[in-house]
Amino acid sequence: MDYHNLQVLDHPLIRHKLTLLRNKNTTHKDFRELAEELAGLMTYEVCRSMQTKACPIETPLEPYEGQELENEVTIVPVLRAGLVMAQGMLDMIPHAKVGHIGLFRDENTLEPVQYYCKLPESTAESDVLIVDPMLATGGSASKAISLVKERHPRSISFCCIIAAPEGIKVLQREHPDVKIVTLEIDRRLNENGYILPGLGDAGDRIYGTK
Ligand code: PRP
Ligand code: URA
Repeated sequence: MDYHNLQVLDHPLIRHKLTLLRNKNTTHKDFRELAEELAGLMTYEVCRSMQTKACPIETPLEPYEGQELENEVTIVPVLRAGLVMAQGMLDMIPHAKVGHIGLFRDENTLEPVQYYCKLPESTAESDVLIVDPMLATGGSASKAISLVKERHPRSISFCCIIAAPEGIKVLQREHPDVKIVTLEIDRRLNENGYILPGLGDAGDRIYGTK
């Protein structure tokens, strides 16, 4: 595996929650909560390279030379499954703006089909965090990144919960400038484009549609 612009976050809490998330007996309610919590934990590392600037304030006792994030942050969930991750990140960065990209994979070709794209007007001033729990063939992530790149943001990170080696290779080839952050790298895709061992269809598990 080429670890250029690829970060795998390892932490006991992440391992614990990810195991619960993968379990086929986990309910929709718990699945949603776990995906949101994992995204929240991830935010800490994802934001590590962001710049801060001076923010002088007064504490109740004296002046204090504080710091605040220098640049706007825009979180972009890939619908549907990215929505719960976006909420987890918003809990940590409540002032972030949110864009939405709607994509689904064609069941036969596995190619992404776009049905929605609405990004903040100020995206060019933003550090953008694209969120989607699953990076499988990489088609959806690559398309989402291309749509965001049309706005020339300051930086783009793609944040997922589980990544397949196949999808990582595609992103590293098509978008070598984009940082990929994942919680685990799985073995491979099966013949239907599902990640092994994976967690099944993230959207269906979140929303109970199957
Ligand atoms: C899932 C997932 C990603 C995509 C990953 O969405 O949330 O967006 O598949 O697969 P890829 O890397 O092969 O493109 P899906 O297409 O099932 O849409 P949904 O969230 O609306 O169910
Ligand atoms: N999309 C999912 O939701 N799960 C997979 O394993 C692959 C693509």
